Amino acid sequence: MKIGVLGGTGPAGTAVAVRLASVGNEVVIGSRSASRASGVVDELLGRWAGRDLAIVAGDNREAARADLVVLATPWEGAVSTARELSDELDGKILVSMVNAMARWGDRFVPLLPPTGSVAMAVAGAVPRSRVVGAFHHLPAGPLGDLDRLLEADVMVFSDDREAGDLVIGLVDKVPGLRGVAVGGLWSAMAVEALTAALVEVNRRYKAHAALRVTGIA
Ligand SMILES: NC(=O)c1ccc[n+]([C@@H]2O[C@H](COP(=O)([O-])OP(=O)(O)OC[C@H]3O[C@@H](n4cnc5c(N)ncnc54)[C@H](OP(=O)(O)O)[C@@H]3O)[C@@H](O)[C@H]2O)c1
Repeated sequence: MKIGVLGGTGPAGTAVAVRLASVGNEVVIGSRSASRASGVVDELLGRWAGRDLAIVAGDNREAARADLVVLATPWEGAVSTARELSDELDGKILVSMVNAMARWGDRFVPLLPPTGSVAMAVAGAVPRSRVVGAFHHLPAGPLGDLDRLLEADVMVFSDDREAGDLVIGLVDKVPGLRGVAVGGLWSAMAVEALTAALVEVNRRYKAHAALRVTGIA
């Protein structure tokens, strides 16, 4: 599958890009600046030389022309980025991994947008797209290190069950990861906000925490 990553030059976007490329997907790393994306892709292909990753660079518009698109910008830019690309994203699965957080002293706290979550706000901005939430809790460092097996569950939510199931299938192809359906877009409020708690876990235990849901087959 051809996957585009909007805001793909940051730690989260590059991590998702290399991990999805490592299981045979073609990935377009998008940016507001195509030349910045090119520099990032050169670095990634240098780091992972010999792994035969199909990763190319483009601007966000080129990335949005892929079959499935991941939104990996900070929360401040998520809605405007999606809205600007609404024609390219028409009818497509748009996976938001965006968490809204703010620094409060030396802590990170979750922010609740008026819509309750970033994913709901994005869905409102691109109503003809099939918005799915995923990847919120995967720590970028271990996810982007292909020499490491990252064992974690990925909470996937959407109002479009078929789109959610497709993303779960995409996640399940990555060794160590398992997609878990956690309901409709309303779940975004809980999933996004939980990320700030995981950041606190990381601070306390000097870790890269991820989640496992137990009790399901
Ligand atoms: N870091 C993690 O471990 C992690 C894990 C899971 C989920 N997330 C979520 O993934 C998202 C990205 O995280 P990150 O750490 O990679 O963030 P980041 O480095 O701050 O931003 C990612 C990219 O977004 C673009 N960008 C920055 N400000 C923007 C704006 N106002 N409008 C549009 N694009 C903008 C930049 O790319 P260009 O300048 O090249 O356009 C930047 O390289 C966040 O919402 C975060 O909550 C992060």
